[in-house]
Amino acid sequence: MAESFAVDVQGVQKKFGSLQALDGVTLRVRSGEIYGLLGPNGAGKTTLIRSIVGLVAPDAGTVSVLGLRMPNVENLRNVGYMTQQAALYPGLSVEENVQFFAAVNGAESGVTDALKLVELDQRRKSVVTTLSGGMRQRCSLACAIVHRPKLLLLDEPTVGLDPQLRVRFWDSFREMADGGTTIVVSSHVMDEAERCQRLGLVQYGKLLAEGSPDEIRSLAGTNNLEEAFLRLAGTGAES
Ligand SMILES: Nc1ncnc2c1ncn2[C@@H]1O[C@H](COP(=O)(O)OP(=O)(O)O)[C@@H](O)[C@H]1O
Ligand SMILES: [Mg+2]
Repeated sequence: MAESFAVDVQGVQKKFGSLQALDGVTLRVRSGEIYGLLGPNGAGKTTLIRSIVGLVAPDAGTVSVLGLRMPNVENLRNVGYMTQQAALYPGLSVEENVQFFAAVNGAESGVTDALKLVELDQRRKSVVTTLSGGMRQRCSLACAIVHRPKLLLLDEPTVGLDPQLRVRFWDSFREMADGGTTIVVSSHVMDEAERCQRLGLVQYGKLLAEGSPDEIRSLAGTNNLEEAFLRLAGTGAES
């Protein structure tokens, strides 16, 4: 049987004005894996994630999610997307925000489970404006997972979190992946890369290299992932 891919991106190009944000990206994410998109600011990670969701229309190339060509509004019910900037309703409570995302995605239950997973069930009645930054991020994660998506896209989900909370986020990603969810997570923090099964190194809108953390290290001939990234990025990365 053919291996099933949760995400299949083929030759995607996207220009904003004269800027080539994605320059022919091809990648496939296997069902149930945690795939890390790594690269510096401006590399094209967010644009790539948006093209997977169908929010960015590629100039060329194709994207399929769970076997269906994107964009496809109905398929979005199978997808959870945590944006880089938290997109919560500030005047609503934690619970109301999560309920809203459940309703939009046609889920009738799951709010309590999602709040428990992010350890916010004690704060479900709190209005978002009264939450700490970390709590808001946990609330955003709950909104992205409440409808139990098969594919979860997380755009730099741990930026600004303290180390304990980052570990807790990664533990919950692991838990979800063990439950069968496919996860694509972007980061520019190399130590997070260790927690991914496979990595795609993105720079200037291109996929420079792909593989497990071990494969990336041996490809670059170094034991240090950060060093490996710099070597694979070549001279252009060092200015
Ligand atoms: N809507 C847009 N309009 C114009 N330029 C954009 C837009 N979105 C992204 N870009 C540009 O595309 C490049 C890639 O951006 P982005 O995908 O956000 O990178 P990353 O998420 O890796 O930081 C950047 O140079 C950014 O300024
Ligand atoms: Mg980004």
